[in-house]
Amino acid sequence: CGIVGYTGPRQALPLVLEGLRRLEYRGYDSAGVVVLDRDGAAPQLNLAKKAGRIGNLEAFIDTGAVALAGTTGMGHTRWATHGGPTDRNAHPHTDMHRRVAVIHNGIIENFVPLRAELEAAGIEFSSDTDTEVVAHLLSRVMADGPTAGDLPASMAAVCRGLEGAFTLVAMHLDAPETLVAARRNSPLVVGIGEDEMFVASDVAAFIAHTRNAVELGQDQLVVINPDGYEVTSFTGGEPDFREFHVDWDLSAAEKGGFEFFMDKEIEEQPAAVAQTLLGHFDGSGIVLDELRLSEDDLRTIDKVFVVACGTAYHSGLVAKYAIEHWCRIPVEVEVASEFRYRDPVLNRDTLVVAVSQSGETADTLEALRHARRQKARVLAVCNTNGSQIPRESDAVVYIHAGPEIGVASTKAFLGMLTANYLVGLALAQARGTKYRDEIAREYEELTKIPDAIATTLTLMDPVRKLAQEISTAKAILFLGRHVGYPVALEGALKLKELAYMHAEGFAAGELKHGPIALIEEGLPVVIVTPSPVTDPLLHSKLLSNIREIQARGARTIVIAEEGDETVAPFADFLIELPKVPKLYQPLITTVPLQILAAEIARAKGFDLDKPRNLAKSVTVE
Ligand code: G6P
Repeated sequence: CGIVGYTGPRQALPLVLEGLRRLEYRGYDSAGVVVLDRDGAAPQLNLAKKAGRIGNLEAFIDTGAVALAGTTGMGHTRWATHGGPTDRNAHPHTDMHRRVAVIHNGIIENFVPLRAELEAAGIEFSSDTDTEVVAHLLSRVMADGPTAGDLPASMAAVCRGLEGAFTLVAMHLDAPETLVAARRNSPLVVGIGEDEMFVASDVAAFIAHTRNAVELGQDQLVVINPDGYEVTSFTGGEPDFREFHVDWDLSAAEKGGFEFFMDKEIEEQPAAVAQTLLGHFDGSGIVLDELRLSEDDLRTIDKVFVVACGTAYHSGLVAKYAIEHWCRIPVEVEVASEFRYRDPVLNRDTLVVAVSQSGETADTLEALRHARRQKARVLAVCNTNGSQIPRESDAVVYIHAGPEIGVASTKAFLGMLTANYLVGLALAQARGTKYRDEIAREYEELTKIPDAIATTLTLMDPVRKLAQEISTAKAILFLGRHVGYPVALEGALKLKELAYMHAEGFAAGELKHGPIALIEEGLPVVIVTPSPVTDPLLHSKLLSNIREIQARGARTIVIAEEGDETVAPFADFLIELPKVPKLYQPLITTVPLQILAAEIARAKGFDLDKPRNLAKSVTVE
């Protein structure tokens, strides 16, 4: 979910709505706002909330059905967990007397007993959400608890009784210019403006107004009013926060003439890879200055796990090929939600690499906590500065791909791949499994990749045409071998996410062991082919696989290295891409698959940035 709050001299409503629009990628099945009006006879909280996109809420507000004037307010855009996406389940939630309003991101795991206790005390609920208990609890504590009348202390008391993950923001009629916010396992940042303050899930919500922000540690509570902010720990520890300056500006968070953010983010990929590489080679070796692990630490590592979800998981699958090849250490790759619960074998010589664009994904966060409890060392590969996953890791390598707004990951994926390669090279360097000059050569090859991606992007018009033709196919299969296999999985995932089509990726050699039964006349099959020059053996195996499916009537769409003449006779549609070293091919071959999925989705009239049922950061397990 996305959360934004404002207090200052200006009208809150337009600022809150603008913030919500920038956070809509975090969830978009309902939205709501609340503003505190002090101009009437008595102050009151006025709310508007609607199922559906923020546009729905705005249309409702435009009818003038509710007055929403006031200079303190907050809003929420939801990704439903407890309770379906309806008007009444949309946030904010209030107590029965509407003296307090609350918005929430996360899951309150003990809400069932809390709700039962409140109902037994005569409180009537008006939604099915877990969040509503907080509104009633806070109202009660403010009215007659030991901290009555003290909003921050009352909020702290309520938070201490909650289990699970939450970012909560609350307003109360007795504290008219104040917002109080708390976080545990879900994101929250403060924006410091001139005589005005913001709270939000992500700096994108207020970047148009200030680039000065505050990140908050675990179990922190922050009070904002127009004069400033104050942080305390609601569990009684030391305050834990850090002010920082956001190093990108509004233009990075806007579409800049593209129809969708995703279109822009695909075009930004050469720059994203270049940014990830920047500063990581000092003439004699790889430097990962945020690594916080010494070469001695790295030398003792005898096993690597990569844990991640979705697209980030696919970047880990590629990393396995590179790290095992360069470092001669076994690498396992696992989806975070499985890793955590199966009791993996970990010890202090294990390196767990947690890959996450957002740095917030709850599954990945819990996996890394599990790993740290078993004394493994955890390295985060992340795109979001100061987010929870790097905060809780022993070390971090940032991707620096810039903000990614489109829910389906593109440029962050290429950034992750690049950062994972750097981690592999740093390990090889520390362990001495590669000579310095070999590492220098690898880095040099990586620096040529942004140009190769830029060239690839210029070759995509035929892919766009193809997408129109195959947009009505019943399903599309994707095949690859070696590093082409994770690329096939990623191509299939993109198509599912964006075009809601049945799509599957397979290891090409495995096809004959079952999935080949799916092949029928005209079924489009995308094949990611290795280089005939650098990998002749695998290339010839893959040619056989293509023949097998062509013989059974498939329509073969072949992604191949430029100049690969041997594959042409078996390709009903050939996409030729620049030649790059074998391990780096995913940085190139992923691009046409992103375009293919995007264009099929566009042909079907779908929203590329906000696929149905998804959210960009999933902060629940
Ligand atoms: C969500 C998104 C996916 C993303 C995954 C992991 O499910 O919809 O696109 O790949 O989370 O996100 P992360 O931020 O951890 O990379």
